Amino acid sequence: MNANHLLLLLLPFVLITLVSQGHAQHLFGKEKVTRLHFFYQERLTGDNPTIVLSGRPNDNASANFLTFGAVSVIDALLTEGEDPNSSVVGHAQGLSVSAGQQQLMLIFVVDFGFTSGEFNGSSVSVLSRNPLLETDRELAVVGGRGKFRMARGFANLHAVNVTADFTRIEYNVTVFHYE
Ligand SMILES: *[C@@H]1O[C@H](CO)[C@@H](O)[C@H](O)[C@H]1NC(C)=O
Ligand SMILES: *[C@@H]1O[C@H](CO)[C@@H](O)[C@H](O)[C@H]1NC(C)=O
Ligand SMILES: *[C@@H]1O[C@H](CO)[C@@H](O)[C@H](O)[C@H]1NC(C)=O
Ligand SMILES: *[C@@H]1O[C@H](CO)[C@@H](O)[C@H](O)[C@H]1NC(C)=O
Ligand SMILES: *[C@@H]1O[C@H](CO)[C@@H](O)[C@H](O)[C@H]1NC(C)=O
Repeated sequence: MNANHLLLLLLPFVLITLVSQGHAQHLFGKEKVTRLHFFYQERLTGDNPTIVLSGRPNDNASANFLTFGAVSVIDALLTEGEDPNSSVVGHAQGLSVSAGQQQLMLIFVVDFGFTSGEFNGSSVSVLSRNPLLETDRELAVVGGRGKFRMARGFANLHAVNVTADFTRIEYNVTVFHYE
């Protein structure tokens, strides 16, 4: 075997090594920061609520989505403006789990999928504590799809209206992702 043959045999290993050592920047592009602003619109009552109780703790017939141990499914609208009739920019779909023994506390496992503009088809994934009694809150963004693939970040929330029938929350999301 001459030196050329040896080189041919080794070449695949050299390539594999280079690929596996590639920097995130070479694989995904430069990291950048995007800020998103929208309103989360939840209807709690009526014919078409955006949150439904799907698991009652201890078969408790009077449990609601706030009862400790309750699991609920969410499909809420995201709008551009505070008015629930303003343009829809996406949907928040996922689970809310009431997980506070001492005080009311929800855990949100929710995909915020966007359906308009530059980020149509992309999403950010939230997996976070959501202390719904607090007017100002912060949620953790742990991932995303599409243009937000590999994202991480945080969402700052401000409760604009919280009533027995609906909640309206302002979101400012800061997302670190790749170009
Ligand atoms: C059932 O749920 C209601 C509403 O949250 C609560 O007040 C009550 O204590 C619960 N009962 C039991 C047995 O957990
Ligand atoms: C939104 O539009 C519906 C139907 O046109 C209307 O009944 C409702 O009052 C509007 N809501 C607000 C907050 O303007
Ligand atoms: C968003 O993307 C979908 C699928 O590509 C497309 O059908 C839809 O028209 C787009 N919506 C907007 C508002 O651009
Ligand atoms: C979101 O950002 C806007 C503009 O900077 C600001 O006016 C608003 O108070 C912020 N809201 C939250 C919930 O952070
Ligand atoms: C929602 O909150 C805003 C700001 O606090 C207030 O102006 C508005 O009247 C509230 N809307 C309802 C329907 O309670």
